[in-house]
Amino acid sequence: MTPGTAISFDQIVASEDKFQLATYKKMAIAAERGEGVWIYTSDGQKYLDLYGGHAVAGTGHCHPHVVKALQKQAEQLLFYSNLVYSETRARAAEKLVSVAPAQLSKVFFCNSGTEANENAMRMARMFTGRENIITFSGGFHGRTADAISATFLGKYREIGKPNVPGHLEAEFGNIESVNAVADESVAAIMLEPIQSMAGVRTAAPKFFRNLRDICAERGSVLIFDEVQTGIGRTGEWFFAGGPAADGVVPDIVSLAKALGSGVPVGACLVTDSIASTIKENDLGTTFGGGMFAMAAVTATLEAIEEDQMLENVRRVETHLRERLKEVEQVVSVKGRGFLLGLEFADKAATIHKGLLDRKIITGTASDPKVLRLLPPLCLGVDEVDLFVDALRSCF
Ligand SMILES: Cc1ncc(COP(=O)(O)O)c(C=O)c1O
Repeated sequence: MTPGTAISFDQIVASEDKFQLATYKKMAIAAERGEGVWIYTSDGQKYLDLYGGHAVAGTGHCHPHVVKALQKQAEQLLFYSNLVYSETRARAAEKLVSVAPAQLSKVFFCNSGTEANENAMRMARMFTGRENIITFSGGFHGRTADAISATFLGKYREIGKPNVPGHLEAEFGNIESVNAVADESVAAIMLEPIQSMAGVRTAAPKFFRNLRDICAERGSVLIFDEVQTGIGRTGEWFFAGGPAADGVVPDIVSLAKALGSGVPVGACLVTDSIASTIKENDLGTTFGGGMFAMAAVTATLEAIEEDQMLENVRRVETHLRERLKEVEQVVSVKGRGFLLGLEFADKAATIHKGLLDRKIITGTASDPKVLRLLPPLCLGVDEVDLFVDALRSCF
């Protein structure tokens, strides 16, 4: 390929396939530009993005406030490590803590969701002096060694063999199954509050209250993996502390995806009591807390606030649910806010393809009957109408 010369879609595909490992099943489009809820492809087509680049584009693609902040930061300082103080990092940490439930008073920055979960589990083990972590069938926590060992979903633990010891499985939503394994060896109970990849599975608010009680009673740490549910996706800043959790705030919340609007960044929010046990060198990462990522965090949170995106999620979710009643093939609508699973009687893959043919990007799940929607938080009612009309035309 000659630098600076435009290449065709076929050439892009041939080149990616030749030089990259074949680890992903890709849609037959090449994303070139994004604006809000829209993606423009290399051949000039326009797609409605209801998948948000895998739940990452929370503020929408290339939100002007985020882009401006990143442009400014890029000209000022791209990176320096945690060995120096930084105004940009100070602002990001303060802003993130300010939108979190009051009990979560300190943050550790890293680079991805899996890394946030690794650090969350490590902190729980350090805090309790125990080894075992309970996670749930259907939960997904990432692909690094400890996180994949905590992932009792489909093939993942198998891929991660040999698994890290110290992982116990319980059934999501079933408190008796937790009771059966939550003994004095358990450092933490960790869960995706809404199991996205499994097919957008939810649990009753009482389940979270019961988990909180078990942890309090047995001296274990409660961790919410909010890599998908965090940063506004459910119509609240976090699932933690919200009505769907019966107001329960865990000891640690892990975050990534939408936190940097596309700039890779992960984080663990922790309580004072966990924070007080963490000493110098207990955790660390070169890139965590770098200035470019920190500028993205602050601008992301500001954009969500300024554009009142949380209110938008709640309003547009109501409209979407209402309109979906017109589609008789939709058996149920699962989830909350903009983390929704549309359940069909038949395979969702066919509908995914039908929608893609109609220039709408959606997601599938490990439950073959579920189509996932993880749109930017700025999705409006007009785009919802467009989607529902397209969905109806698929049948
Ligand atoms: C709930 C959850 N946790 C953790 C991860 C891992 O995040 P990352 O891919 O950034 O490592 C994901 C990724 O999809 C996720 O959905």
